[in-house]
Amino acid sequence: MKVQLLDLKAQYAPFRDEISKTVLEIMDSQYFIGGPYVKECEDTVAKYSRTKNCVGCSSGSDAIIISLLALGIKPGDEVIVPSFTFFATAGAVAIIGAKPVFVDVHDDTFNIDYRCVEKAITPKTKAIIAVDLYGQTADLDKIKEIAKNHNLSFIEDAAQSIGAEYKNRRVGEIADLTTISFYPAKNLGAFGDAGAVLTNSDDLKQKLTMLREHGSSDRYCHKVVGMNARLDALQAAIIVKKITKLDEWTEARQRNANIYFESFKRAGLSDFVITPKLAEYTTRHIFNQFVVRVQKRDELKNYLQTKDIASAVFYPLGLHMQDCFKYTGSKEGDLPVTEKLCKEVLALPIYPELTKEQLEYVVNSIKEFYRI
Ligand SMILES: Cc1ncc(COP(=O)(O)O)c(C=O)c1O
Repeated sequence: MKVQLLDLKAQYAPFRDEISKTVLEIMDSQYFIGGPYVKECEDTVAKYSRTKNCVGCSSGSDAIIISLLALGIKPGDEVIVPSFTFFATAGAVAIIGAKPVFVDVHDDTFNIDYRCVEKAITPKTKAIIAVDLYGQTADLDKIKEIAKNHNLSFIEDAAQSIGAEYKNRRVGEIADLTTISFYPAKNLGAFGDAGAVLTNSDDLKQKLTMLREHGSSDRYCHKVVGMNARLDALQAAIIVKKITKLDEWTEARQRNANIYFESFKRAGLSDFVITPKLAEYTTRHIFNQFVVRVQKRDELKNYLQTKDIASAVFYPLGLHMQDCFKYTGSKEGDLPVTEKLCKEVLALPIYPELTKEQLEYVVNSIKEFYRI
């Protein structure tokens, strides 16, 4: 039996005719940038996220950059970020000349530890970015309260978590700005790079709209310096088609997660494998990844490979230990939880089209590896 980490061809097959028709329609219209497709995509994603505004843009990374710019973050400002995340969370801060200040995460939810956030605040701190890792939100009310008490901006990096819910509130409803990625491997993936920023603020929406278009609101009139970070019509139209299936896919991911939870329990592997924890505040985990913490991680990963089972390590090195961030003064030993997780985490296949047999094969193979 073969188990891939993700099977985008299986996801695409039922849409093939519909999407081909839409792509041809856009080719015929020759309307590639902005226009009705982008507007429809923004309205649809805003509605899905129960947020007033959605500003489409070129990627989840650019979504963070234009968010920081819209909030007025400047070179020399400090922005608190978790170390255990994808590079873009901190890279966006650094690229605009601000300083990423790395903090640790909770070992059960993998998300930013609010106690560490409090301790990292200095007079230079201007914003906090919380990441919703693997499809479960961070403790958003706690972070929002800290941000409010210290007069800081709050960005939620929801690249991996569109549609996730915190105490019945959806990603997009809570932070000042929430950034989304439509990278193809995300739960709602485009056919290339694409992203968005969600906000309930009309003022921020206006700033973001200018910033993604070289800082201009009227053609050739630039109030601020911005980027070329637009969402293109082809990606927008594909997102509009695919979002109609998103809830169905999320339910399938949740069903697969439950099969894993039960199978791991039955297998009696608790001394070797820690399954992901759903926080008390989580009312909807969208399982972009199903990440277990295991002993002898790299050996297990290689063993699974011999059984034709793909798995992945997100992430093998904390951002505070990356060469490019040495200048921030952060180093090995600073963030023990992150450093431990980097050695233990392993993402197992969870995509919607998997069968129960495949999931059980994964668990049985892990059981075999530990020889119990
Ligand atoms: C947590 C996180 N932030 C930001 C991004 C960047 O998104 P994109 O690849 O669309 O630029 C990603 C994408 O993997 C991500 O996982």
